[in-house]
Amino acid sequence: MNDSNKQKLLVIESLAKNFGGIHAIKNFNLEVYSGDLIGIIGPNGAGKTALLNTITGFYRASSGKVIFNETDITYHPIHKIALLGMGRTFQNIRLFKRMSVIENVMVARKNYFENPIQFLFNRAQHLEQLDQSMDCLSMLKLADKANQSAASLSYGDARRLEIARALAGMPKMLLLDEPAAGMNETETKQLIEDIQIIRSKVDSVVLIEHDMNLIRSLCDRVVAMDFGQKICEGSAQEVLSHPEVMSAYLGVDEDEGNFS
Ligand SMILES: Nc1ncnc2c1ncn2[C@@H]1O[C@H](COP(=O)(O)OP(=O)(O)O)[C@@H](O)[C@H]1O
Ligand SMILES: [Mg+2]
Repeated sequence: MNDSNKQKLLVIESLAKNFGGIHAIKNFNLEVYSGDLIGIIGPNGAGKTALLNTITGFYRASSGKVIFNETDITYHPIHKIALLGMGRTFQNIRLFKRMSVIENVMVARKNYFENPIQFLFNRAQHLEQLDQSMDCLSMLKLADKANQSAASLSYGDARRLEIARALAGMPKMLLLDEPAAGMNETETKQLIEDIQIIRSKVDSVVLIEHDMNLIRSLCDRVVAMDFGQKICEGSAQEVLSHPEVMSAYLGVDEDEGNFS
């Protein structure tokens, strides 16, 4: 489809986020269309998480604009942005370990309702939510573990439960912060399959990742960042062979042989 026919789901205009003298994000521009699966790469400290935090309201932008589905969300609070259809995961696992797997999804789902009290005490609605939460678990192949405690999950399953939680609000856009971090090869392969399924259930996916195999397998478009700025944008092949991208990585860790 031609870009002009596709719906612009997210528009980021000249976004900046400063922490005192640190420019975590500088003059950042990006357009995400319905149907896109975009990868964001960059060395540690490049500003990837800060970008995701600013888009989703966890950080307040210093300047610039974030438009989501034609609404200016730049200074919206976190829960309003979630209600508008943005789901996210975190770089570090954030689960309620003493709760069961399904309860973790139910709790996340509650956050997407304007009236959580009604959600808790209306039995018919509760059952419907339970059903939909099970669907989220099924998407991540975790349905058979629904009643286990979250603490009993393997590392890979715990990371995938995080994604199920982010899907609980049936977001239009899903933002994943290093979903494959710490996963072994088998877990990463499984994750690639899961994300392929998820992309058909949401309008668009933006994922931050260091695993270049995952980036190559999944992303239609890749954005490389360094020092809070976009270095380049294009297909995975174009971006990963871009000299500035290579030197950004090599400048940080010469042993990081992720590009072959
Ligand atoms: N809450 C914060 N307070 C101060 N500095 C921050 C904060 N969050 C991020 N930074 C700084 O912003 C820069 C980008 O960090 P981050 O977005 O976490 O990088 P990445 O996710 O690409 O590894 C770093 O210099 C980091 O120290
Ligand atoms: Mg990060």
